[in-house]
Amino acid sequence: MKNLLEKYNRQGPRYTSYPPVPFWKNKPTEMEWVNHLQMNYHAETGMDLYVHIPFCEKLCYYCACNRVITKNKGVQEHFIELLLTEWAMYKNLLGFTPVINSLHFGGGTPTFLSPENLEILIHALTTKKTAGFVGSIEIDPRVTTKEHLECFKRINITRVSLGIQDFDKDVQKAINRMQSFEMVESLVKEMRLLNFESINFDVIYGLPKQNINSIEETFRLIRKLKPDLIAFYSYAHLPDKIKNQRLINEDDLPKAEVKLSLYEKGKELLAMDGYHDVGMDHFALPHNFLFIAKNENKLHRNFMGYVDKKSPILLGLGPTSISDSSMSFMQNEKGLSEYELRLKRGELPLAIGHTHNQDDLNVQKIILDLMCTDESILESPENLPYWPEVQLELTNMASDGILNFQNKKLTILPEGKKFTRNIAMAFDYYFREKMPLTKFSKTI
Ligand SMILES: C[S@@+](CC[C@H](N)C(=O)[O-])C[C@H]1O[C@@H](n2cnc3c(N)ncnc32)[C@H](O)[C@@H]1O
Ligand code: SF4
Repeated sequence: MKNLLEKYNRQGPRYTSYPPVPFWKNKPTEMEWVNHLQMNYHAETGMDLYVHIPFCEKLCYYCACNRVITKNKGVQEHFIELLLTEWAMYKNLLGFTPVINSLHFGGGTPTFLSPENLEILIHALTTKKTAGFVGSIEIDPRVTTKEHLECFKRINITRVSLGIQDFDKDVQKAINRMQSFEMVESLVKEMRLLNFESINFDVIYGLPKQNINSIEETFRLIRKLKPDLIAFYSYAHLPDKIKNQRLINEDDLPKAEVKLSLYEKGKELLAMDGYHDVGMDHFALPHNFLFIAKNENKLHRNFMGYVDKKSPILLGLGPTSISDSSMSFMQNEKGLSEYELRLKRGELPLAIGHTHNQDDLNVQKIILDLMCTDESILESPENLPYWPEVQLELTNMASDGILNFQNKKLTILPEGKKFTRNIAMAFDYYFREKMPLTKFSKTI
């Protein structure tokens, strides 16, 4: 196994979208984009909304998210005005008020906003909701209060994800994120009293100062709180691209073989504690909605990760947000000032985009199937781009015992699950053509 981990541990996309953002081309015009939304919108299924709140009070050195560090809480009201301006522009261009099927607050730190402001925002965005509406939010336990939790309950946010990363003090110091177990414990206790549908912990392996003992201790503490879901992420260290990561002392980073053993140890402890692998990086207890969706073959994947329901449209509001119309992708301006400037000019703040061709849609389906169900039926494989090369790679992977490919059916074997990104990469024709020029994190 160690040899396979070494063999397949190479740079590659995470496939929250296909094609991945660095390979996008043929951006739709604003008119085409609105047209794609109109063509794919159905009132019965509604649309999914993603709202990006970029603010954080303090910088975590490892952070790869798009965020603005400020302690000035006075920025909230103006930012909400910008989000509502963007929303009003969409309603105006579409010619109707969309029915909302789900709303996810991501960041940055959504709980940078006060409970009152979060409430104003969600009410304004969800005047029309589907019967099965689901609300979810990413929270930083250090800036989340009991009042926030009570507000989530009032506004129908039932799925909450906490940034944990690691409980070890030395690791926390090295990443500039001090967060005591006791504080998280008391927040989780409040959450249990309020009966949230799902509590997720984000945990990262490969952080500076981590070792086998520290990860065992982190999981011992996590066990006490029994979150329903755990996202166990590989630390993506790209200091050339992400400047704040240069604040991490590279000598403190676990070497490649230690990082692999942290991953193996984490997975072993998760299995011992009753968590099941539901998809890349995600582990769920059997009562959790993602585990149920996986068993019922209803798991989906979008820019935020795994979800149990998905509308044909995902609309992203706020700087850096990504949208999906089923025919094309769009990403908003990343910088807060550029985002604001575009809105002030009366334009949608769209920065980059991609219009799918038939090859994109075929490959997208295969990659999504693999990520969500561990298998895919390749209908007309000979029509896939670079099929002879893809076939050769699949044959090699089959001889490594990580997949099966027979009668057009590709199945990822249990030993191959951790190499799902590598198997997806075999089909990714943009990666094949442009890989040497594009930087991605390692697959493990
Ligand atoms: C928006 S943050 C979560 C909410 C809140 N800002 C917090 O940190 O508590 C999203 C998650 O991305 C993950 N993340 C950020 N940078 C990462 C990196 N370089 N490698 C792997 N995961 C990372 C962290 O686990 C983090 O919890
Ligand atoms: S990890 Fe979360 S809290 Fe830390 S800087 Fe990134 S977005 Fe902000």
